[in-house]
Amino acid sequence: MLKFTKQQVVAEYLPASVAPQSMDDFSFAPSNIALCKYWGKRDAELNLPINSSLSVSLAHLGSKTRILLADGGQDEVLLNGELLAPDNSFATKVIAFIDMFRRGADHPVRVETENNIPTAAGLASSASGFAALMQAVDQFYGLQLDLSLQSAFARMGSGSASRSLFNGFVEWQMGQREDGMDSIAAPLAAEWPDLRIGLIKVSTAQKPVDSRSGMNRTVATAHLYQSWPMQAAADLSRLHTAIESRDFELLGQTAEQNALSMHATMIASWPPLLYWQADSVTAMHKIWQLRADGLGLYFTMDAGPNLKVLFSAADEAAVCEQFPDMQVIAPFGRQ
Ligand code: DP6
Repeated sequence: MLKFTKQQVVAEYLPASVAPQSMDDFSFAPSNIALCKYWGKRDAELNLPINSSLSVSLAHLGSKTRILLADGGQDEVLLNGELLAPDNSFATKVIAFIDMFRRGADHPVRVETENNIPTAAGLASSASGFAALMQAVDQFYGLQLDLSLQSAFARMGSGSASRSLFNGFVEWQMGQREDGMDSIAAPLAAEWPDLRIGLIKVSTAQKPVDSRSGMNRTVATAHLYQSWPMQAAADLSRLHTAIESRDFELLGQTAEQNALSMHATMIASWPPLLYWQADSVTAMHKIWQLRADGLGLYFTMDAGPNLKVLFSAADEAAVCEQFPDMQVIAPFGRQ
């Protein structure tokens, strides 16, 4: 079967020519945390996943981006106000993404991105980054693409970005098609106003192995990975039940077991991948102890050492007393 390139897929949906126009305002996209993780690809070019995933968006925490026509003759990428070197890996990815839409036309761009979350600290800045970039591209080129298409295209920048086009609970369907155009995310109707997410920052340093290389290594070397698609499918259906019936214990248990199962596949890779630091493990034990003592809290972790804690609004004071430095997010707002 012939594989598709990103450029081929995107070109099918674009008008013959586009008229870029500098943006005044920034586009914003929230970061998201997966309760059922995306881990492993069936197509690395298009970021097509081996399993469907489900996340919750982080409200006001995320990225904002705007695109301008550059004054000079060269593309410029600014991250948090700082001009990046052209060979910087973030700058290269941003320009490669824009090139899917620029299609060889001669107009250098200036891309300005600001994150209000620590970049590359396991808090998914690539997800909000590419979702905000997609929205900015849509405006800059006046494309008016619907959000499903934007989700599919953002996925080509970074898989988890497909989910960051939306607020609240979001499900990314793995899809079946070779061109990936059924591998898109959509929001769930259900809301959960009492849900809280706490960020326990163990380290905000750049991680040595990014999630992209991490998941490729896991798929290529860990036999344990074979059980992952089954775990993910079962967890996804449990999460739907938990969300429909507002069953916090089921939500928390499923998210925590899903994260630990994903980490088990990483640890079983070669060379081994262990994103946890000693403080991550200390925090896990503390959460398990607090739970044994009757407090309702669970954790999830992505490809990094930081923990994201799930709890209910009613327990917020008690949880914050245990983790005084924790930043708390209300994904559905505070009533
Ligand atoms: C552990 O979306 O960063 O956070 O598609 O290669 O850019 P690429 O990977 P990325 O992977 C995220 C992995 C994860 C789980 C998740 O967010 O679902």
